Amino acid sequence: MARTFPEHGELWPVLEQRLLRERIKDIDWLKGLSDSYWPDPGGNVRLVAKAAADQMFDAFLLGAKYGEPSARMVEDEVTAMTREILGAPPGATTTLTGGGTESNFHAVKTARDWARVHRPAAKDPEVLLCWTAHPSFDKAAHICGIRTRRIPERADFRADVAAMAKAVNRDTIMVVGSSPSFSHGVIDDIAGIGAIAEQHGLWGHVDACVGGFLIPFLRKNGRRLPNFDFSTSGVASISADLHKFGFVTPHGISTFTLRDGANVTYQGFDFDDWPYGRYAVKTFAGSRSGQVVGAAWAVLRHLGEDGYRKRAELVTRMADILENGVKAIPGLRPLAPSEAGIFVYTSDQVDIVAVAEGLNARGFPSSWCKKPEAIHILLYPIEEIAPVADYLRALSEVVAEVRATGRKATQRQATYA
Ligand SMILES: Cc1ncc(COP(=O)(O)O)c(C=O)c1O
Repeated sequence: MARTFPEHGELWPVLEQRLLRERIKDIDWLKGLSDSYWPDPGGNVRLVAKAAADQMFDAFLLGAKYGEPSARMVEDEVTAMTREILGAPPGATTTLTGGGTESNFHAVKTARDWARVHRPAAKDPEVLLCWTAHPSFDKAAHICGIRTRRIPERADFRADVAAMAKAVNRDTIMVVGSSPSFSHGVIDDIAGIGAIAEQHGLWGHVDACVGGFLIPFLRKNGRRLPNFDFSTSGVASISADLHKFGFVTPHGISTFTLRDGANVTYQGFDFDDWPYGRYAVKTFAGSRSGQVVGAAWAVLRHLGEDGYRKRAELVTRMADILENGVKAIPGLRPLAPSEAGIFVYTSDQVDIVAVAEGLNARGFPSSWCKKPEAIHILLYPIEEIAPVADYLRALSEVVAEVRATGRKATQRQATYA
């Protein structure tokens, strides 16, 4: 049988050739306008991230005991900057995680262990969320041995706060809002979600994995958007991804912030029954790389508030151009207002999945949301208008073609991951 693991080691030039041959086949994601990658946010950002990651190449972190001082320094500053951006009060704590899924896991695990003390009547704990919330909550609940309950969204795709309030029962321990939701890109009424948490003594969590490092700067730029951060009462924790609109590469970094750092005892794991001694860690991971933390530190400091505000402005401009462009194509309409980095459009006249397939065939990677069927785009802070104009031109041609031929999609299964 052919072996993958080589018997004799290979030289780097051989490996480099092999990698290069694969890399050139990758999607040209730096040009933006796909639905799954966050590309170059312009300027020297990628260069700076790469240089910092290189410098922190072998730095690592493990619990509170191990880790180079350099890795501790970058971790301390990244978490402090995150708390400032999210308006966290004194006493809050931030944990760096490997991604949004892990941050939401921490939220569910913290709420479960908190509820064992503060909501002992909840015998069969339940997490209340909108149908539009990210599946990582269900994954976390599954791992934590508790249940989720998804409440249908409103006609405007936002969480139905009134229906969620009615659904609270003795077993409810946690209520979740999205800022924004991935599927439709709209921001839930976080003040309403926070009010449910306060009124019923529940854990209130905001999934700001997409908007956490974007909405604060859109608001600073004067965009009228609802608030989601710690100035909203009832919000006990927030997930916000640095590897999305925090513009950090390489991937693998998100943040989980607790309003009250004392609750970190419910987040972590503390164990002392084995030979080597106490294992008390607040992260899900044990050993962690300092490399991506170094990259995050460099990107946050290199961009600063001005840099993030500028990119937020470019995202807004991109949203406006796409929205106007889509409205100008007969048969298409935006599904919802583009509020924070996501633009979704649909059609009542042509098969929108067939349109997505047509765009894919022309080299514009396009995925669709299944309910309602709609094409989903992540907005990039690119200064060049040309790629957007190319996209809109291709879109217009594909729609005309699908309309003229009455073509239907070859398959309708929407796949997120
Ligand atoms: C709203 C939301 N929450 C959580 C996640 C999970 O993030 P990750 O893929 O980094 O685990 C995503 C990913 O797109 C998301 O959009």
